[in-house]
Amino acid sequence: MEKEIKINFEVIPSYDELNDIEKTLFDKAKTIREQAYAPYSHFFVGCALLLENGEIITGSNQENAAYPSGLCAERTTIFWTSANYPDVKIKKIFVIGGPEDALSSVPIPPCGGCRQSILEYEAKQKEKIEIYFAAPNGEIIKTKSIRDLLPFSFDGSFL
Ligand code: THU
Repeated sequence: MEKEIKINFEVIPSYDELNDIEKTLFDKAKTIREQAYAPYSHFFVGCALLLENGEIITGSNQENAAYPSGLCAERTTIFWTSANYPDVKIKKIFVIGGPEDALSSVPIPPCGGCRQSILEYEAKQKEKIEIYFAAPNGEIIKTKSIRDLLPFSFDGSFL
């Protein structure tokens, strides 16, 4: 029997359509992106996340000459957040990525490993995390939960 999974997402046509807090998160993700350490891929990614206490935490991808030892912007940011604010909920995550020259306007979605890591903290805090992803210029994609980006997700409930 063939079945379908429906995912929900919103397309926000441009930066101007974002509300104030979303604009702040976009700006911070875009700015921190410029400090990414990506000498091997030259692909720069910035992340800004909003905590329930109003604080904004930022991070960028960190590469390594031994390639697998590097880490994506989302995980750099979310792991630091969980290490320092283990009991504070995450409300929103903004990801801005693109080649170093930033010419592309295609929204850059979080990779599979980052989706899995975000899911862990969404499950832990028992509250959805809104995910936004974009290029430095162009449209922005928004989902209300990481589960929209990770159908058939594996989490601790199976263990
Ligand atoms: N990257 C991220 O930071 N986040 C993603 O979700 C996708 C990929 C980084 C990892 C690596 O430093 C570079 O982009 C190229 O893959």
